[in-house]
Amino acid sequence: MCGIVGYIGKKPALPVLLSGLKRLEYRGYDSYGFCILEKKKDVFLYKKKGKISELQEDFSNIKGQIGIAHTRWATTGAVSEQNTHPHFDCHKNIFLVHNGIIENYQELKEQLIKEGHQFTSETDTEVLAHLIEKYFDDNLEEAVRQALKEVRGTYGIAVISKKDPEKIVAAKLGSPLILGINDNEFLVASDPAAIISSTRQIITLDDNEIAVLSPDKFFILKEKPIEKIEWDIEDAQKQGFSHFMLKEIFEEPEAIKKSIVGRMILEQGLAKLGGLDEVSERLKKIEKVVIIACGTASYAGKVGEYMFEEYAKIPTKLEIASEFRYKNSILDDKTAVLAISQSGETIDTLEAIKEAKRKGCLTLGLVNTVGSSIARETDAGVYCRVGQEIAVASTKAFISQLSILALITVFLGRQRGMSLTTGKRILQELEKLPDLARKILNKSDDIKDLAKKYSEYRNFFFLARKYNFPIAQEGAIKLKEIAWKIHAEGYPGGEIKHGPIALIDENFPTVVICPSDSVYDKMKNALEEIKARKGKILAVITQGNDEIKNLADDVIYIPKTLEMLTPILTTIPLHLFAAYLGLELGLDIDKPRNLAKSVTVE
Ligand code: M6R
Repeated sequence: MCGIVGYIGKKPALPVLLSGLKRLEYRGYDSYGFCILEKKKDVFLYKKKGKISELQEDFSNIKGQIGIAHTRWATTGAVSEQNTHPHFDCHKNIFLVHNGIIENYQELKEQLIKEGHQFTSETDTEVLAHLIEKYFDDNLEEAVRQALKEVRGTYGIAVISKKDPEKIVAAKLGSPLILGINDNEFLVASDPAAIISSTRQIITLDDNEIAVLSPDKFFILKEKPIEKIEWDIEDAQKQGFSHFMLKEIFEEPEAIKKSIVGRMILEQGLAKLGGLDEVSERLKKIEKVVIIACGTASYAGKVGEYMFEEYAKIPTKLEIASEFRYKNSILDDKTAVLAISQSGETIDTLEAIKEAKRKGCLTLGLVNTVGSSIARETDAGVYCRVGQEIAVASTKAFISQLSILALITVFLGRQRGMSLTTGKRILQELEKLPDLARKILNKSDDIKDLAKKYSEYRNFFFLARKYNFPIAQEGAIKLKEIAWKIHAEGYPGGEIKHGPIALIDENFPTVVICPSDSVYDKMKNALEEIKARKGKILAVITQGNDEIKNLADDVIYIPKTLEMLTPILTTIPLHLFAAYLGLELGLDIDKPRNLAKSVTVE
């Protein structure tokens, strides 16, 4: 998520904007920019790559009292000054900052270019500036209103114009936007953290609302109550959550949505992945996929292996990147190597890609951080688009990786004989997931109670089969990282009887992931084996299953979905369980001991 702040009032705008941008920097942005309307309709526009905290320049001569600013976390288009906001129209009359994704930007851009507009960036945002220019006839809010009618996607925007200079126009759909109200000054921001040092009086804009801010008044299409911010700055950055990890877990429904929005052509059962289009012909000839990743990302990769083989009918193998690099796998130009990484900087994964390239493979990336080393090193790829993860534990990025792997399954599958019906079915079920994920989070208090109940144990097994086996591993790694006083292992359900069952007794609980799927009966057997040895059982099961309720000590329900998509839902309670257990043990769940967010050493 990018950050926006705008100011209009009686004092120089720039110091207010810079202080706002600094308040947002905790999220780790890659570039920033601002635009100030000076007297006599001059404009001061500034864009820079890097961190705002490193800004040295003296801007004391910039006195304009109207301005907008932006911190970017690249999604569409690389990290560069051209792609940094504010974006502008052909004649540099209209300037705009945006948070969100314009899904239909490519078609709008093509049309605007035909109409003679000239673009200077690779971003989706720039189409908004040109669309507003197209409709501009001396009234900025009217032009914004007209332009937004053509847009599909999400936005929180703030717009200013040299030709209608006494105002900021702000509008929102799907991305957060608030107004800050003060005596003789108004602010607009994507996040209360950006304006909290200027005012605590805010109005939260609703979707499809447009606000017009002038130096002495503001106007929204309908009357809205003014609220008061009761948090301090750190709380504001965590948006009311006690920890970033919790905030990021609660963003998981949105992460699914951001990962799939604009990437599905439902009626044709097709996944539209722009980043793979350029290698689409080569992908048709690929005979084998090797997925490389580390830690949590590797568990996403394992789910991908199952998805690709079952639905795309392409031989696939997950390899731990640090092992892959040294084991001299048999690879050739008919092999696609897909690297999965949240940070895009994990050295083991990066070096494994280089090795795959040496062997002539097509290399692909599934990465969250735009412009990162892995994104640059791979031939093509898909971005997660879920915004920066701050907590060390990867949560929302993992959910996004799973969602995008389902899309890639459809992409590859439809190249290899997957039927229209199957493609459509997967996409339709995928589209329902954000709502289903929200239902799980609505029960977070129950999971918190379970975490309290189980906090006395120091060892856990996580068991599952097939698609959920990697989720057992994910549940275990999260517990190890976040509640590190506890030891946990994730096992395939069928393996426990080959050794680990010796450990089971009343002091060794097992989390059994057992949705109603093709391996349900087999998992039930494992559950009974544990029960017979007096092991405590916490089962993650599908809503409506009354059978396991009587076998397990405790249950967590997930809504019903397609088997291949169940990992996206079963993961969510396990992320919460680990976070709450860590808190129960008095640990810092955002910064677990001995761990770093990105592992750039071998
Ligand atoms: O940035 P990456 O996704 O490449 O990181 C890979 C692992 O280091 C990472 O997933 C690690 O396992 C996390 N701390 C898990 O929460």
